[in-house]
Amino acid sequence: MSDVGEDSKIASSQWVALCSATDVPDIGGLRIELEGREAIAVFRSGDEYFVTDDQCTHGNASLCDGDVIEGEIECPFHRGMFDLRTGQPTGSPCTVPLRTYPAELRDGLIYADISQEK
Ligand code: FES
Repeated sequence: MSDVGEDSKIASSQWVALCSATDVPDIGGLRIELEGREAIAVFRSGDEYFVTDDQCTHGNASLCDGDVIEGEIECPFHRGMFDLRTGQPTGSPCTVPLRTYPAELRDGLIYADISQEK
């Protein structure tokens, strides 16, 4: 018996290969330009990879230019912070959550479902 809700979720998913895991820098993130949408960013913290929107929700900063600190990204403009897993702001002056996307490492490539945020 299939779960219709789960089937429609799978049908509407849009997993795309974004980059090689080795392309993700140790400091900051890798900015990915995708046609028809805002740029997204790939970050690594330890052995985990995270995909979020690249633009800070506080201003026009590329979060890829920030620092990853134990699962959080620090914005290069005003040092606001976000949890990379949830997108929740964790440091002032940021108050609006950052969009995050399901991400997976498969065969050395980073994939993300850009059809939905987590
Ligand atoms: Fe990111 Fe202000 S633009 S904290």
